[in-house]
Amino acid sequence: MGNLIITIDGPAASGKSTAAHLLAERLSASFLDTGAMYRAVTLAAIRAGVNMNNEEKLLGVLDNLEFQFATQKRKMTVCINGVDVTEQIRQPEVTAKAWYIASSPKLRNRLVQMQRQFAAGKKRTITEGRDQGTVAFPDANIKFYLTADANERARRRQAELRSKGGTESLEKIQKAIDDRDKSDESRSVGPLRPASDAIVVDTTNLSIKEVVEKLLCYVKEKCLKKS
Ligand code: C5P
Repeated sequence: MGNLIITIDGPAASGKSTAAHLLAERLSASFLDTGAMYRAVTLAAIRAGVNMNNEEKLLGVLDNLEFQFATQKRKMTVCINGVDVTEQIRQPEVTAKAWYIASSPKLRNRLVQMQRQFAAGKKRTITEGRDQGTVAFPDANIKFYLTADANERARRRQAELRSKGGTESLEKIQKAIDDRDKSDESRSVGPLRPASDAIVVDTTNLSIKEVVEKLLCYVKEKCLKKS
C-alpha cells in the first residue's frame, strides 16, 4: 500500500494530541500537530503588529516568514525564521487569537497545502486537528474523531495547566473551551465536525492508554492487515 495517513480530529482537550503522539510512536509514524501551525501564524502576526482582521496582511505574514515544523520525540517543534517558538505558541494570547487565522479561507487553504506537503514525503503520517479528515485528507486510510464530555475536557486542561504552575479556575477554563468549541464548529471554512466516515471515540471514561489501544486496534484491523 502507499503512504499511510491517519487523521485525528476533535475539540480542544479531547486528548487527540497525546493520543496522536503515542499512536505515532507505536506505528513509527510522523506526527503533525496542525493546531501548532495555526498558532505559529497567530504568534507571528501578533509580533508583527498586524491587524488580525486583514486577511491579506495575514497572508503576508505567512509568505514572508519561514515556518518549520519538525517532529521530535513526543513533541512537534515549531520555528519561525529559524527561532524555536514551540513554547511561545502555547501562550493564552495566541490561543485566544488563533481563530482569526482559523476563520480565514485563504490562510486555511495555504495551511492545508502545507499539511499535504508534509505528509507527501512520509511513509506514515498521523495528523491531528479540526479538519484533517474532512478537508485536508478526505482520502485518509483511517479517520478518527475524538470527543469527551465538556466538564471532563476542562478538568484535563486544568490538570495540564496546573502541572505547569497555572492557577486558572475550572469555570474559566470551561468557558474558554466552550468558546473555542463554538467558534471552531460554526465557522464556514473547515469547521470542526466528524467526517462522515470517521470513527467517533468518546474518551470521557477512558485513560490515555486505553484510547491509544483502541485506536491501534482499529488501525490494525483496517489498514495494516492489507499491507
Ligand atoms: O489544537 P489547538 O488547540 O492547538 O488549535 C489551536 C486553534 O487552531 C484551534 O482552536 C482552532 O481554531 C485552530 N485549528 C484549526 N484547524 C486545525 C487545527 C487547529 O482551525 N486543523
